[in-house]
Amino acid sequence: MKVDVLLGLQWGDEGKGKIVDVLTPNYDVISRFQGGPNAGHTLEFNEQKYILRSVPSGIFQGGKINIIGNGVVLDPLLFKQEAEALAASGHDLKKKLYISKKAHLILPTHRVLDAAYEAAKGAGKIGTTGKGIGPTYTDKISRNGVRVGDILHDFDTIYDAAKARHEAILKSLHYDYDIRELEKQWFEGIEYLKEFTLIDSEHVINNYLKEGKTVLAEGAQGTMLDIDFGSYPFVTSSNTICAGCCTGLGVAPRNIGEVYGIFKAYCTRVGSGPFPTELFDETGDKLCEIGHEFGSVTGRRRRCGWIDLVALKYSIMLNGVTQLIMMKSDVLDSFETIKACVGYFIDGEETTEFPYRMDDSIRPIYAELPGWKTDMTEMTNEDEFPEEFNAYISFLEEELGVPIKIVSVGPDRAQTIVRYTEE
Ligand code: GDP
Ligand code: IMO
Ligand code: MG
Repeated sequence: MKVDVLLGLQWGDEGKGKIVDVLTPNYDVISRFQGGPNAGHTLEFNEQKYILRSVPSGIFQGGKINIIGNGVVLDPLLFKQEAEALAASGHDLKKKLYISKKAHLILPTHRVLDAAYEAAKGAGKIGTTGKGIGPTYTDKISRNGVRVGDILHDFDTIYDAAKARHEAILKSLHYDYDIRELEKQWFEGIEYLKEFTLIDSEHVINNYLKEGKTVLAEGAQGTMLDIDFGSYPFVTSSNTICAGCCTGLGVAPRNIGEVYGIFKAYCTRVGSGPFPTELFDETGDKLCEIGHEFGSVTGRRRRCGWIDLVALKYSIMLNGVTQLIMMKSDVLDSFETIKACVGYFIDGEETTEFPYRMDDSIRPIYAELPGWKTDMTEMTNEDEFPEEFNAYISFLEEELGVPIKIVSVGPDRAQTIVRYTEE
Protein backbone atom coordinates (compact mmCIF):
# COMPACT_ATOMS: atom_id res chain seq x y z
CA MET A 1 0.00 0.00 0.00
CA LYS A 2 0.94 3.65 -0.31
CA VAL A 3 0.58 6.64 1.97
CA ASP A 4 -2.00 9.19 0.87
CA VAL A 5 -1.20 12.74 1.91
CA LEU A 6 -3.52 15.64 2.64
CA LEU A 7 -1.96 19.08 2.72
CA GLY A 8 -2.81 22.76 2.74
CA LEU A 9 -2.09 24.67 -0.47
CA GLN A 10 -2.34 28.21 0.94
CA TRP A 11 -1.17 29.82 4.20
CA GLY A 12 -2.71 27.23 6.52
CA ASP A 13 -6.18 26.94 8.08
CA GLU A 14 -7.66 25.58 4.86
CA GLY A 15 -9.79 23.08 6.78
CA LYS A 16 -7.37 20.13 6.94
CA GLY A 17 -8.71 18.86 10.26
CA LYS A 18 -12.28 18.68 9.01
CA ILE A 19 -11.38 16.75 5.86
CA VAL A 20 -8.97 14.34 7.56
CA ASP A 21 -11.86 13.46 9.86
CA VAL A 22 -14.17 13.02 6.87
CA LEU A 23 -11.65 10.77 5.07
CA THR A 24 -10.66 8.76 8.16
CA PRO A 25 -13.22 5.95 7.64
CA ASN A 26 -11.28 5.02 4.47
CA TYR A 27 -7.99 4.54 6.37
CA ASP A 28 -6.48 2.35 9.10
CA VAL A 29 -3.81 4.81 10.22
CA ILE A 30 -3.70 8.62 10.41
CA SER A 31 -0.37 10.32 10.96
CA ARG A 32 1.02 13.82 11.45
CA PHE A 33 4.46 14.32 9.84
CA GLN A 34 5.57 17.91 10.55
CA GLY A 35 4.77 21.03 12.51
CA GLY A 36 3.62 21.01 16.10
CA PRO A 37 1.23 22.92 18.32
CA ASN A 38 1.42 25.89 15.96
CA ALA A 39 -1.32 23.95 14.15
CA GLY A 40 -4.96 24.30 15.11
CA HIS A 41 -7.18 21.83 13.28
CA THR A 42 -10.91 22.24 13.84
CA LEU A 43 -13.44 19.43 13.62
CA GLU A 44 -17.19 19.73 14.07
CA PHE A 45 -19.74 16.94 14.31
CA ASN A 46 -22.79 16.13 16.44
CA GLU A 47 -22.86 19.78 17.52
CA GLN A 48 -19.45 19.38 19.17
CA LYS A 49 -16.36 21.34 18.17
CA TYR A 50 -12.79 20.19 18.79
CA ILE A 51 -9.52 21.94 18.05
CA LEU A 52 -6.49 19.67 17.71
CA ARG A 53 -2.93 20.93 17.85
CA SER A 54 -0.54 17.97 17.99
CA VAL A 55 -2.95 15.06 17.88
CA PRO A 56 -3.89 13.70 14.43
CA SER A 57 -7.47 14.35 13.31
CA GLY A 58 -8.24 10.63 13.00
CA ILE A 59 -8.96 10.08 16.68
CA PHE A 60 -12.71 10.57 16.55
CA GLN A 61 -13.55 7.70 14.23
CA GLY A 62 -13.39 4.32 15.97
CA GLY A 63 -10.69 1.72 15.60
CA LYS A 64 -8.02 3.84 13.92
CA ILE A 65 -4.36 4.08 14.84
CA ASN A 66 -2.98 7.61 15.08
CA ILE A 67 0.71 8.40 14.92
CA ILE A 68 2.74 11.51 15.71
CA GLY A 69 5.67 11.06 13.34
CA ASN A 70 9.37 11.88 13.67
CA GLY A 71 9.04 15.14 11.72
CA VAL A 72 6.75 16.66 14.36
CA VAL A 73 7.90 18.88 17.23
CA LEU A 74 6.05 18.13 20.44
CA ASP A 75 5.48 20.22 23.55
CA PRO A 76 4.71 17.75 26.36
CA LEU A 77 2.89 20.38 28.39
CA LEU A 78 0.53 21.37 25.57
CA PHE A 79 0.19 17.74 24.56
CA LYS A 80 -0.88 16.78 28.09
CA GLN A 81 -3.46 19.58 28.14
CA GLU A 82 -4.80 18.52 24.75
CA ALA A 83 -4.91 14.80 25.53
CA GLU A 84 -6.48 15.33 28.97
CA ALA A 85 -9.19 17.58 27.54
CA LEU A 86 -9.95 14.91 24.94
CA ALA A 87 -10.02 12.18 27.60
CA ALA A 88 -12.45 14.30 29.64
CA SER A 89 -14.77 14.41 26.63
CA GLY A 90 -14.64 10.62 26.27
CA HIS A 91 -11.75 10.24 23.82
CA ASP A 92 -8.98 8.41 25.59
CA LEU A 93 -5.90 8.47 23.37
CA LYS A 94 -3.66 6.05 25.26
CA LYS A 95 -4.62 3.00 23.19
CA LYS A 96 -4.93 4.67 19.81
CA LEU A 97 -2.09 7.18 19.66
CA TYR A 98 1.58 6.27 19.16
CA ILE A 99 4.39 8.79 19.27
CA SER A 100 7.69 8.60 17.40
CA LYS A 101 10.77 8.49 19.61
CA LYS A 102 12.49 10.62 16.97
CA ALA A 103 10.06 13.53 17.24
CA HIS A 104 11.76 16.55 18.78
CA LEU A 105 10.70 18.09 22.08
CA ILE A 106 9.81 21.75 22.43
CA LEU A 107 11.46 22.90 25.66
CA PRO A 108 10.17 25.77 27.83
CA THR A 109 13.24 27.75 26.78
CA HIS A 110 12.38 27.18 23.10
CA ARG A 111 9.15 29.07 23.70
CA VAL A 112 11.07 31.88 25.40
CA LEU A 113 13.56 31.98 22.53
CA ASP A 114 10.69 32.24 20.05
CA ALA A 115 9.41 35.32 21.91
CA ALA A 116 12.90 36.78 22.26
CA TYR A 117 13.70 36.41 18.55
CA GLU A 118 10.39 37.97 17.62
CA ALA A 119 11.02 40.90 19.98
CA ALA A 120 14.50 41.35 18.48
CA LYS A 121 13.03 41.53 14.97
CA GLY A 122 10.77 44.43 15.98
CA ALA A 123 8.62 45.59 13.06
CA GLY A 124 10.08 42.82 10.89
CA LYS A 125 8.71 40.09 13.14
CA ILE A 126 7.30 36.91 11.58
CA GLY A 127 4.20 36.91 13.75
CA THR A 128 4.82 33.36 14.91
CA THR A 129 2.37 31.41 17.02
CA GLY A 130 4.84 31.75 19.91
CA LYS A 131 4.98 28.00 20.47
CA GLY A 132 8.74 27.62 20.11
CA ILE A 133 8.53 26.01 16.69
CA GLY A 134 11.43 27.84 15.01
CA PRO A 135 13.95 27.42 17.86
CA THR A 136 13.09 23.71 18.20
CA TYR A 137 13.63 22.99 14.50
CA THR A 138 16.78 25.14 14.63
CA ASP A 139 18.15 22.87 17.37
CA LYS A 140 17.19 19.81 15.37
CA ILE A 141 19.06 20.99 12.29
CA SER A 142 22.08 22.20 14.27
CA ARG A 143 22.20 18.78 15.93
CA ASN A 144 21.41 20.09 19.39
CA GLY A 145 17.84 18.85 19.66
CA VAL A 146 16.20 16.84 22.40
CA ARG A 147 14.06 13.95 21.22
CA VAL A 148 11.07 12.15 22.68
CA GLY A 149 13.15 8.96 22.97
CA ASP A 150 15.60 10.83 25.23
CA ILE A 151 13.05 10.91 28.05
CA LEU A 152 13.73 7.18 28.51
CA HIS A 153 17.49 7.60 29.13
CA ASP A 154 19.45 10.01 31.31
CA PHE A 155 17.03 12.78 30.48
CA ASP A 156 18.02 15.32 33.13
CA THR A 157 21.56 15.63 31.76
CA ILE A 158 20.31 16.09 28.19
CA TYR A 159 17.69 18.61 29.30
CA ASP A 160 20.07 20.62 31.47
CA ALA A 161 22.64 20.92 28.66
CA ALA A 162 20.01 22.18 26.21
CA LYS A 163 18.57 24.59 28.74
CA ALA A 164 22.01 25.99 29.60
CA ARG A 165 22.68 26.63 25.91
CA HIS A 166 19.37 28.44 25.55
CA GLU A 167 19.97 30.48 28.68
CA ALA A 168 23.28 31.70 27.31
CA ILE A 169 21.55 32.89 24.13
CA LEU A 170 18.76 34.58 26.08
CA LYS A 171 21.35 36.33 28.24
CA SER A 172 23.10 37.66 25.15
CA LEU A 173 19.75 39.01 23.96
CA HIS A 174 19.14 40.66 27.37
CA TYR A 175 15.75 38.99 27.44
CA ASP A 176 13.97 38.74 30.81
CA TYR A 177 11.90 35.69 31.56
CA ASP A 178 10.75 33.37 34.33
CA ILE A 179 9.98 29.79 33.38
CA ARG A 180 9.79 28.21 36.84
CA GLU A 181 6.05 27.46 36.70
CA LEU A 182 6.17 26.56 33.02
CA GLU A 183 9.07 24.19 33.63
CA LYS A 184 7.26 22.45 36.48
CA GLN A 185 4.23 21.79 34.29
CA TRP A 186 6.47 20.78 31.41
CA PHE A 187 8.07 18.03 33.48
CA GLU A 188 4.60 16.82 34.45
CA GLY A 189 4.02 16.63 30.71
CA ILE A 190 7.15 14.50 30.33
CA GLU A 191 5.85 12.02 32.92
CA TYR A 192 2.51 11.96 31.12
CA LEU A 193 4.23 11.27 27.83
CA LYS A 194 5.80 8.15 29.33
CA GLU A 195 2.31 6.67 29.67
CA PHE A 196 2.04 6.57 25.86
CA THR A 197 3.45 4.04 23.43
CA LEU A 198 6.67 5.53 22.09
CA ILE A 199 7.68 3.90 18.82
CA ASP A 200 10.15 3.81 15.96
CA SER A 201 7.44 5.11 13.68
CA GLU A 202 9.35 4.59 10.42
CA HIS A 203 9.41 0.83 11.04
CA VAL A 204 5.84 0.73 12.24
CA ILE A 205 4.46 2.65 9.27
CA ASN A 206 6.43 0.72 6.67
CA ASN A 207 5.32 -2.56 8.25
CA TYR A 208 1.72 -1.38 8.12
CA LEU A 209 2.12 -0.65 4.42
CA LYS A 210 3.55 -4.13 3.86
CA GLU A 211 0.60 -5.65 5.71
CA GLY A 212 -1.79 -3.82 3.38
CA LYS A 213 -2.96 -1.20 5.86
CA THR A 214 -4.04 2.16 4.50
CA VAL A 215 -2.32 5.28 5.82
CA LEU A 216 -3.36 8.94 5.56
CA ALA A 217 -0.76 11.59 6.37
CA GLU A 218 -2.14 14.88 7.70
CA GLY A 219 -0.21 18.00 6.83
CA ALA A 220 -0.04 21.04 9.08
CA GLN A 221 0.30 24.69 7.98
CA GLY A 222 0.28 25.16 4.21
CA THR A 223 2.55 25.23 1.18
CA MET A 224 2.94 29.02 1.27
CA LEU A 225 4.42 28.56 4.77
CA ASP A 226 6.95 25.93 3.63
CA ILE A 227 10.49 26.71 4.81
CA ASP A 228 11.95 26.29 1.29
CA PHE A 229 9.16 27.36 -1.05
CA GLY A 230 6.86 29.59 1.00
CA SER A 231 6.94 33.37 1.29
CA TYR A 232 10.35 33.26 2.98
CA PRO A 233 11.22 34.47 5.61
CA PHE A 234 7.55 34.76 6.61
CA VAL A 235 7.11 31.01 6.85
CA THR A 236 7.15 28.26 9.43
CA SER A 237 10.26 26.13 10.09
CA SER A 238 9.34 22.82 8.48
CA ASN A 239 8.72 21.41 5.01
CA THR A 240 4.97 21.53 4.80
CA ILE A 241 4.95 20.11 1.26
CA CYS A 242 4.48 16.49 0.25
CA ALA A 243 8.22 15.81 0.43
CA GLY A 244 7.99 16.61 4.16
CA CYS A 245 5.83 13.53 4.51
CA CYS A 246 8.70 11.33 3.26
CA THR A 247 11.20 12.73 5.74
CA GLY A 248 8.64 13.24 8.50
CA LEU A 249 7.47 9.64 8.49
CA GLY A 250 10.30 7.72 6.85
CA VAL A 251 8.24 6.84 3.79
CA ALA A 252 9.98 6.47 0.42
CA PRO A 253 8.79 8.82 -2.36
CA ARG A 254 7.57 5.88 -4.44
CA ASN A 255 5.28 4.93 -1.57
CA ILE A 256 3.29 8.15 -1.77
CA GLY A 257 -0.15 7.59 -3.32
CA GLU A 258 -2.89 10.17 -3.64
CA VAL A 259 -2.01 13.75 -2.79
CA TYR A 260 -5.07 15.69 -1.65
CA GLY A 261 -4.54 19.43 -1.98
CA ILE A 262 -6.92 21.48 0.10
CA PHE A 263 -7.72 25.17 -0.40
CA LYS A 264 -10.28 27.75 0.59
CA ALA A 265 -12.51 29.22 -2.13
CA TYR A 266 -10.85 32.51 -1.14
CA CYS A 267 -7.63 33.02 0.83
CA THR A 268 -6.45 33.87 4.35
CA ARG A 269 -3.21 34.38 6.19
CA VAL A 270 -2.27 34.91 9.88
CA GLY A 271 0.91 36.66 10.95
CA SER A 272 3.13 38.96 8.90
CA GLY A 273 4.31 38.67 5.32
CA PRO A 274 3.21 39.38 1.77
CA PHE A 275 -0.29 38.50 0.60
CA PRO A 276 -0.89 39.87 -2.93
CA THR A 277 -4.67 39.39 -2.98
CA GLU A 278 -5.31 40.72 0.53
CA LEU A 279 -8.37 42.97 0.79
CA PHE A 280 -8.33 45.98 3.08
CA ASP A 281 -11.90 47.04 2.29
CA GLU A 282 -15.37 45.95 3.34
CA THR A 283 -15.16 42.88 1.09
CA GLY A 284 -12.21 41.69 3.20
CA ASP A 285 -14.20 42.42 6.37
CA LYS A 286 -17.14 40.51 4.96
CA LEU A 287 -14.99 37.44 4.23
CA CYS A 288 -13.58 37.61 7.75
CA GLU A 289 -17.01 37.97 9.35
CA ILE A 290 -18.88 35.31 7.38
CA GLY A 291 -15.90 32.95 7.42
CA HIS A 292 -15.24 33.51 11.18
CA GLU A 293 -11.65 34.05 10.24
CA PHE A 294 -9.96 34.12 13.62
CA GLY A 295 -7.00 31.84 14.43
CA SER A 296 -8.02 28.65 16.20
CA VAL A 297 -4.83 28.67 18.32
CA THR A 298 -4.02 32.34 18.84
CA GLY A 299 -7.44 33.93 18.22
CA ARG A 300 -5.71 36.41 15.91
CA ARG A 301 -7.80 37.93 13.13
CA ARG A 302 -6.90 36.26 9.86
CA ARG A 303 -6.13 38.53 6.94
CA CYS A 304 -8.55 37.82 4.07
CA GLY A 305 -8.46 38.17 0.30
CA TRP A 306 -9.41 36.60 -3.01
CA ILE A 307 -8.16 33.24 -4.18
CA ASP A 308 -4.68 33.37 -5.74
CA LEU A 309 -4.33 30.94 -8.64
CA VAL A 310 -0.70 31.86 -9.33
CA ALA A 311 0.22 30.69 -5.83
CA LEU A 312 -2.15 27.72 -6.00
CA LYS A 313 -0.65 26.45 -9.25
CA TYR A 314 2.79 26.69 -7.68
CA SER A 315 1.58 24.72 -4.66
CA ILE A 316 0.00 22.07 -6.87
CA MET A 317 3.27 21.70 -8.77
CA LEU A 318 5.40 21.38 -5.63
CA ASN A 319 3.14 18.77 -4.08
CA GLY A 320 2.15 16.74 -7.12
CA VAL A 321 -1.50 17.17 -6.15
CA THR A 322 -3.77 14.50 -7.64
CA GLN A 323 -7.12 15.70 -6.22
CA LEU A 324 -8.32 19.07 -5.05
CA ILE A 325 -10.64 19.79 -2.14
CA MET A 326 -12.34 23.18 -2.02
CA MET A 327 -13.36 24.51 1.39
CA LYS A 328 -15.61 27.27 2.67
CA SER A 329 -17.35 27.95 -0.62
CA ASP A 330 -20.44 28.76 1.48
CA VAL A 331 -18.64 31.89 2.70
CA LEU A 332 -19.02 33.29 -0.83
CA ASP A 333 -22.74 32.39 -1.04
CA SER A 334 -23.93 36.01 -0.81
CA PHE A 335 -21.30 37.66 -3.04
CA GLU A 336 -22.45 39.45 -6.20
CA THR A 337 -19.15 38.81 -7.99
CA ILE A 338 -16.13 36.71 -7.16
CA LYS A 339 -12.58 37.50 -8.14
CA ALA A 340 -9.71 35.10 -8.77
CA CYS A 341 -6.12 36.23 -9.24
CA VAL A 342 -4.81 34.81 -12.51
CA GLY A 343 -1.56 36.75 -12.80
CA TYR A 344 0.78 39.20 -11.06
CA PHE A 345 2.09 42.60 -12.09
CA ILE A 346 5.70 42.75 -10.89
CA ASP A 347 7.74 45.87 -11.75
CA GLY A 348 5.28 46.69 -14.51
CA GLU A 349 5.60 43.22 -16.08
CA GLU A 350 2.80 40.69 -16.23
CA THR A 351 3.54 37.13 -15.13
CA THR A 352 1.68 33.96 -14.24
CA GLU A 353 4.79 32.43 -12.70
CA PHE A 354 5.33 32.44 -8.96
CA PRO A 355 8.31 34.76 -8.37
CA TYR A 356 11.55 34.21 -6.42
CA ARG A 357 10.55 36.86 -3.93
CA MET A 358 7.01 37.47 -2.89
CA ASP A 359 6.70 41.02 -1.65
CA ASP A 360 4.18 43.80 -1.11
CA SER A 361 4.85 45.37 -4.53
CA ILE A 362 3.08 42.54 -6.38
CA ARG A 363 -0.25 43.64 -7.91
CA PRO A 364 -2.82 40.95 -8.67
CA ILE A 365 -4.53 40.61 -12.05
CA TYR A 366 -8.08 39.41 -11.56
CA ALA A 367 -10.64 37.42 -13.50
CA GLU A 368 -14.17 38.20 -12.38
CA LEU A 369 -16.95 35.64 -12.15
CA PRO A 370 -20.61 36.01 -11.26
CA GLY A 371 -21.56 34.92 -7.72
CA TRP A 372 -24.20 32.21 -7.22
CA LYS A 373 -26.17 34.10 -4.57
CA THR A 374 -27.62 30.89 -3.14
CA ASP A 375 -27.36 29.41 0.33
CA MET A 376 -25.43 26.17 -0.24
CA THR A 377 -24.98 25.13 3.39
CA GLU A 378 -27.80 22.56 3.34
CA MET A 379 -26.84 20.99 0.03
CA THR A 380 -25.78 17.36 0.04
CA ASN A 381 -25.35 16.56 -3.64
CA GLU A 382 -23.61 18.24 -6.53
CA ASP A 383 -26.82 18.02 -8.57
CA GLU A 384 -28.10 20.87 -6.39
CA PHE A 385 -25.21 23.20 -7.25
CA PRO A 386 -26.28 26.49 -8.82
CA GLU A 387 -25.13 27.11 -12.38
CA GLU A 388 -22.74 29.91 -11.39
CA PHE A 389 -21.10 27.69 -8.78
CA ASN A 390 -20.54 24.96 -11.36
CA ALA A 391 -19.01 27.63 -13.59
CA TYR A 392 -16.67 28.69 -10.74
CA ILE A 393 -15.59 25.07 -10.24
CA SER A 394 -15.03 24.52 -13.98
CA PHE A 395 -13.03 27.74 -14.19
CA LEU A 396 -10.78 26.66 -11.29
CA GLU A 397 -10.32 23.14 -12.66
CA GLU A 398 -9.38 24.54 -16.03
CA GLU A 399 -6.89 26.99 -14.55
CA LEU A 400 -5.39 24.53 -12.08
CA GLY A 401 -5.44 21.40 -14.21
CA VAL A 402 -6.53 19.11 -11.36
CA PRO A 403 -10.09 17.94 -10.57
CA ILE A 404 -11.93 19.26 -7.52
CA LYS A 405 -13.25 16.07 -5.94
CA ILE A 406 -14.70 17.38 -2.68
CA VAL A 407 -16.54 20.61 -1.92
CA SER A 408 -17.13 21.74 1.66
CA VAL A 409 -20.16 23.93 2.33
CA GLY A 410 -19.93 24.39 6.10
CA PRO A 411 -17.81 23.49 9.12
CA ASP A 412 -19.72 20.35 10.08
CA ARG A 413 -18.54 16.89 9.06
CA ALA A 414 -21.88 16.42 7.29
CA GLN A 415 -21.51 19.56 5.18
CA THR A 416 -19.22 17.84 2.72
CA ILE A 417 -20.07 16.97 -0.87
CA VAL A 418 -18.07 14.33 -2.72
CA ARG A 419 -18.39 14.95 -6.45
CA TYR A 420 -18.99 12.25 -9.01
CA THR A 421 -15.79 10.97 -10.45
CA GLU A 422 -15.40 10.95 -14.17
CA GLU A 423 -12.24 9.06 -14.98
P1 GDP B 1 -6.93 23.65 9.49
O1 GDP B 1 -5.87 24.26 10.32
O2 GDP B 1 -6.55 23.53 8.05
O3 GDP B 1 -7.46 22.35 10.03
O4 GDP B 1 -8.15 24.69 9.51
P2 GDP B 1 -8.71 25.47 10.81
O5 GDP B 1 -9.50 24.52 11.62
O6 GDP B 1 -7.64 26.25 11.47
O7 GDP B 1 -9.62 26.55 10.11
C1 GDP B 1 -10.70 26.22 9.31
C2 GDP B 1 -11.96 26.85 9.92
O8 GDP B 1 -13.00 26.82 8.98
C3 GDP B 1 -12.48 26.12 11.13
O9 GDP B 1 -13.09 27.03 12.00
C4 GDP B 1 -13.51 25.16 10.53
O10 GDP B 1 -14.51 24.79 11.45
C5 GDP B 1 -14.08 26.02 9.45
N1 GDP B 1 -14.53 25.31 8.25
C6 GDP B 1 -14.01 24.21 7.65
N2 GDP B 1 -14.66 23.94 6.51
C7 GDP B 1 -15.60 24.89 6.37
C8 GDP B 1 -16.57 25.19 5.36
O11 GDP B 1 -16.68 24.52 4.34
N3 GDP B 1 -17.35 26.28 5.56
C9 GDP B 1 -17.25 27.07 6.66
N4 GDP B 1 -18.06 28.11 6.76
N5 GDP B 1 -16.35 26.83 7.62
C10 GDP B 1 -15.53 25.77 7.47
P1 IMO C 1 -2.60 25.03 10.65
O1 IMO C 1 -2.00 23.65 10.68
C1 IMO C 1 -1.95 29.28 9.83
C2 IMO C 1 2.06 30.85 10.70
C3 IMO C 1 2.18 31.84 11.82
C4 IMO C 1 3.35 32.67 11.33
C5 IMO C 1 4.25 31.62 10.67
C6 IMO C 1 5.37 31.10 11.56
O2 IMO C 1 -3.66 25.27 11.64
O3 IMO C 1 -2.97 25.40 9.25
P2 IMO C 1 5.44 29.45 13.63
O4 IMO C 1 4.77 29.53 14.97
O5 IMO C 1 5.10 28.22 12.87
O6 IMO C 1 6.91 29.69 13.70
O7 IMO C 1 4.85 30.71 12.81
O8 IMO C 1 3.39 30.54 10.33
N1 IMO C 1 1.41 29.57 11.07
C7 IMO C 1 0.17 29.22 10.72
N2 IMO C 1 -0.79 29.93 10.05
N3 IMO C 1 -2.17 27.99 10.22
C8 IMO C 1 -1.22 27.28 10.84
O9 IMO C 1 -1.36 25.96 11.11
C9 IMO C 1 0.00 27.91 11.17
N4 IMO C 1 1.12 27.51 11.79
C10 IMO C 1 1.98 28.53 11.71
O10 IMO C 1 1.01 32.62 11.95
O11 IMO C 1 2.93 33.55 10.33
MG1 MG D 1 -5.59 25.87 11.63
